[in-house]
Amino acid sequence: MTHDSIAVVDFGGQYAHLIATKIRRLHVHAEILQPEDPLERFRPFKGIVVSGSPSLSSFGEDSAYTTAIYDLDVPIIGFCFGHQEIAKHYGGSVVHGGREWGPADLHRTRPHPLFEGLAASERVWMSHYDSVVALGPGFEELGYSTLGGREDVQHRFAAIGSDRLRRYGFQFHPEVDDTVHGDEMIANFVLRICGCRPSWTMARYLEEEVARVRRQVGDGSVFLLASGGVDSTVAARLLARALGSSRVHLLHIDNGLMRRDESRRVVEMLRDLGLGEHLTFVDASDTFLRALEGVVEPERKRRIIGDTFIAVFDREARRLGIDHFLLAQGTIYPDTIETGGTRRADTIKTHHNRVPIVQEMIAAGRVVEPLADLYKVEVRELGEQLGVPHDLIWRHPFPGPGLGVRLLCSTGVEDRDGFDRVEPALAAVSREAGLPMLPLPIRSVGVKADLRAYEHPVLISGEAPWEALLRTAGAIYKQVPGINRALWNLGPAAPVAVRPLDATVTRDRLDLLREADAIVMQGLRRHGLYERIWQCPTVLVPLEVNGAGRELVIVRPIHSERAMTATPAALPGPLLAELRTALLALPGVSGLALDLTTKPPGTIEWE
Ligand code: XMP
Repeated sequence: MTHDSIAVVDFGGQYAHLIATKIRRLHVHAEILQPEDPLERFRPFKGIVVSGSPSLSSFGEDSAYTTAIYDLDVPIIGFCFGHQEIAKHYGGSVVHGGREWGPADLHRTRPHPLFEGLAASERVWMSHYDSVVALGPGFEELGYSTLGGREDVQHRFAAIGSDRLRRYGFQFHPEVDDTVHGDEMIANFVLRICGCRPSWTMARYLEEEVARVRRQVGDGSVFLLASGGVDSTVAARLLARALGSSRVHLLHIDNGLMRRDESRRVVEMLRDLGLGEHLTFVDASDTFLRALEGVVEPERKRRIIGDTFIAVFDREARRLGIDHFLLAQGTIYPDTIETGGTRRADTIKTHHNRVPIVQEMIAAGRVVEPLADLYKVEVRELGEQLGVPHDLIWRHPFPGPGLGVRLLCSTGVEDRDGFDRVEPALAAVSREAGLPMLPLPIRSVGVKADLRAYEHPVLISGEAPWEALLRTAGAIYKQVPGINRALWNLGPAAPVAVRPLDATVTRDRLDLLREADAIVMQGLRRHGLYERIWQCPTVLVPLEVNGAGRELVIVRPIHSERAMTATPAALPGPLLAELRTALLALPGVSGLALDLTTKPPGTIEWE
């Protein structure tokens, strides 16, 4: 290994990624390993972190892993589940009980390098059912915790360690931001206890990756599918830096589900970046729209879009003779880990970068993935180094199926299933909030207990402060069965009747959605909000408001870190007023609403 590196043992997808991200921010390389990876894989690392997990250590869940890591002569620390596993491995005991949830105070029992530079008492984040209740020989308690300032409720063994063995454990999660000085604790472990040198910088990464690509490609050429998104664009620039643009062939496909002028802009942007020498553009929008004709059901739409993409890509790739080239892809680190098909990855997606022709090429060692070791935020940093324009680097994420998941379809039949239970419960919340509420006779996708759930949205009307609206939305999901979204009506003033319209994917509807989306995006930029908001889908719902025969537009501005959770973003009054005027004036639009839903219970997209 060129750089000092830490292995993060992945007992639960998100925890492990968060830990690795935080270590990398220290300029120390971190890699995610699976618990059952062979011992040999762990040997090159200067330290190991055992992550948290949804499994219960007290019941011996997920205990069949490579415990031989504990025989390695490198420091090991465990967080939450990992902490309990370490305690158990060295003769301590763990019981089911002693649950803590939320903020707690960690009180140090003595100064220790893990807490260097920190106070004797620190705010930490707890989330566990199991607890360590006894330590094995050689271990000592480094800290205990109290809950929410109450000194009488003490939990022992919140931090434990053996300096002789160099084994440590935190019951809390230092990797989440709610542990106020968690970053410093991780830094103390990585830099002080493991002695890692912070040499892993983006500039060094670029240098090393350019050299690696040159070695892999030799005097051949590469072929890359360029969507115009951050990953494929940064990959293209890196490849051009390594090989020269004359050896980089690009293909951009317009699937007809792009934003307004998107493909034209992507092609221009790639040319401006000096990547136009071998750039092929294919307008496949007819093929996609034909395949989607008459389809209403969201999952079917998704599948058709995916399959058509694969068919077009296969056709074009063969026509361009990519088997003469190495295939380059902008695959990033979380995709690499998830595509590995581990049993703990929560989502395993079939990306276009794993379709059959690509799998064949991977098997033959003919695929180059220069970003495969990076997280999104690191790709952005690398993009800055490679001179990719700021605007492009900070673009909002855009889903693969594009506007296909934002253009809702309907057979025009009202779906009032469950309304007999919804209406009385909703009336109670409405009275309490003093705001009119209308359940909508359609469904949108949401996520409850890790499963997708199609449920009804509710439209709230009237004026209330933002915080009060969010509280009301929260009360709705809690008290009204079968509801997964709350919307705030922005017009017309009194929506008394709503009715689904018969609507499928058509060019006209897509054009209307493109227009609405462009108005929202321009508004965010005009008010300096584009970069402060993580993503803002605009959705076209075939629901007429007050008998107008035209559709409902929904704007969904959110804050998020990794799209796993999301909170609605407030838009300032003047922007809301501008959106109301511009969007309600579009022919084909009869209503406008702002989505107030957190994820969960809603998802970011509507489908
Ligand atoms: P949800 O709707 O599941 O979306 O909360 C989470 C994030 O993923 C994006 N998204 C997709 N991206 N292909 C993609 O490349 C897809 O099929 C897809 N579906 C959702 C969505 O925009 C959000 O950022």
